[in-house]
Amino acid sequence: MQTLTLRRPDDWHLHLRDGAMLAGVIGDSSRHFARAIIMPNLVPPVVTVANARAYRQRILDVLPAGDRFEPLMTLYLTEGSSPDDIEEGFRSGLVTAVKLYPAGATTNSHGGVRDFDKAMPALERMAKIGMPLCVHGEVTTPEVDIFDREAVFIETVLDPLRQRLPDLKVTMEHVTTSDGVDYIQTSAGNLAGTITTHHLVINRNAILVGGIRPHYYCLPVAKRESHRLALRKAATSGDPRFFLGTDSAPHVDPLKECGCGCAGIYTSINTMSCLAHVFEQEGALDRLEAFASLNGPAWYGLAPNEETITMVRRDRPVAFPEKIETGAGPVTVFDPMFPLHWEVA
Ligand code: NCD
Ligand code: ZN
Repeated sequence: MQTLTLRRPDDWHLHLRDGAMLAGVIGDSSRHFARAIIMPNLVPPVVTVANARAYRQRILDVLPAGDRFEPLMTLYLTEGSSPDDIEEGFRSGLVTAVKLYPAGATTNSHGGVRDFDKAMPALERMAKIGMPLCVHGEVTTPEVDIFDREAVFIETVLDPLRQRLPDLKVTMEHVTTSDGVDYIQTSAGNLAGTITTHHLVINRNAILVGGIRPHYYCLPVAKRESHRLALRKAATSGDPRFFLGTDSAPHVDPLKECGCGCAGIYTSINTMSCLAHVFEQEGALDRLEAFASLNGPAWYGLAPNEETITMVRRDRPVAFPEKIETGAGPVTVFDPMFPLHWEVA
């Protein structure tokens, strides 16, 4: 029997939601992951340090007994964000990063940034104190094709922003294109990227071939195969600038299976199994630890977890539920469309 032992992984981009949904999904993350960067796109969003403190407590309140899990909080950047509040949150250790959603880019992002000049005081302060900015890298201009939004964002928003604030540390989240990979690889520094589990597994055909499949719809939307291959190469390369951010984003099934379905794929429960499969296919099992457990903490200036997990390769496929039941309703689990043989022991 083949086994693989690695430092306990962390998830550097996670949606836990709130209330009954939070209670229903938290265990799927805390079972395998020691820490996670918690996305602030609640309704209303987590904007102030006081919001983040209260949300963190709600997460800890529903953590399954015995699980050790550290929520690393983020603040949702608005045009009115207070530099002093942000700095206080960072210095106190409560807030790890600030999240930039261009207004209208994705789920619950209408309060995001339209005019970057208005967010400059906050961004300048972050550059000064070394606080990372997590970026949803898509433009929202209606003229731009949805499959081009990331590339256009890099050229028209991210690169100018980084030139304006060279000291700002930026995490380009859920990179989905070879343009994103290239941009990170060729940048001089202060830039890293997270890659999701599902973007290593599916391309855009999964959403559209043979019928419309809402459970493969997420933002940024999956791109063509050449992009998926570039992501796999980056993730399995060991390059410290790339690490795991699952972007596990639960929505109840009725909100995905309808005339205008929400974006988001739920992967917390089987991410480690999917990743082991991908890294095995790429002949890179020995680099899974770098991607899932080492590169992320190094980027955020944290120590890797002391604990380890052991993954086991079973001869027979490992069964994951098709859906999980939460107090908010059923949530469909990501189906990678191949049998999973690896599981966390
Ligand atoms: C996320 C969500 O549902 O909150 N959806 C998604 O498709 N990834 C938002 C986001 O990260 O874009
Ligand atoms: Zn997300």
